Amino acid sequence: MAAPLPIACLNGAFLPLAEVRISPLDRGFLFADSVYEVLPVYAGRPFLFIEHIARLERSLGEIRMHSPLTRSEWATLLTELVARNGGGDMYLYVQVTRGAEEGRNHALNASLVPTVFLMACPLAPLDESVRITGVGAITTQDERWARCDIKSTSLLANVLAKSRAADAGETEAILLSGGWLREGSSSSVMIVCGGVLHAPPYGPEILPGTTRDLALRLAAEAGIAVRIAPIAEATLRSADEILLSFATRGVLSVTRLDGKAVGTGRPGPVWSALAAGFAHYRQILAGTPLLPAG
Ligand code: PDD
Repeated sequence: MAAPLPIACLNGAFLPLAEVRISPLDRGFLFADSVYEVLPVYAGRPFLFIEHIARLERSLGEIRMHSPLTRSEWATLLTELVARNGGGDMYLYVQVTRGAEEGRNHALNASLVPTVFLMACPLAPLDESVRITGVGAITTQDERWARCDIKSTSLLANVLAKSRAADAGETEAILLSGGWLREGSSSSVMIVCGGVLHAPPYGPEILPGTTRDLALRLAAEAGIAVRIAPIAEATLRSADEILLSFATRGVLSVTRLDGKAVGTGRPGPVWSALAAGFAHYRQILAGTPLLPAG
């Protein structure tokens, strides 16, 4: 994992990441009382900006907070952070905590000032071998809380699941619960059966994925049938293709699940169509404004 880029932003001030200081009494540190977003940036332009900010606003609303910035203020801040880190391709990490207080109190204190932290990280092009061979995944039980639709920084169960994948030498852990597919430890999961792209419905148990939403839209536009319905573990295991989607990598093909080949054991045609669709969509967006005029 490459080191973050040098310039970060804390509460509106740009400064070297190495100089950022946050109080140990910040509720983000004490309680994981905070939410976050991860946005890719291509050719200096944050990708799916409105979708990410809308999800941030929703996450904040679900934890009884308001966004501390307007959409236009977010756009200005993010654009400035990208420019100060030299533009090009990168990804941005945005975290909003409920703020620091005098002491450790479980109960909410409405008068706190939120902490807003942003940093930028390098986004290296996808390794060619990943395009050719895909990635491996394991399955594991979903041990997370009951509100995974909130993009909370309380990620311990995700971290442990990802570690189990790493122990097995694989890229992602696909989470199952009661015999049903949920999502990846840091990705959405879709599958292809008989040419139809399937995805589980949104609900409190999974995060609404910005990349998944775009993938399903691009698939439909490319004439691929899309079905949103719960996916049983047995269906996952017999899928022709398994796809992971997440902001930093777009769509990846899972070609090995729990050590067994998925479909042909190579990235399949729906993955290829989506990878091409994403590349094309990035070009269409290049140079366009982040927010509609007016
Ligand atoms: N994670 N589900 C989970 C649990 C995730 O952590 C993520 C993304 C997604 C996909 O969402 P999106 O397509 O909007 O990135 C689904 C980010 C990349 C992370 O935590 O780094």
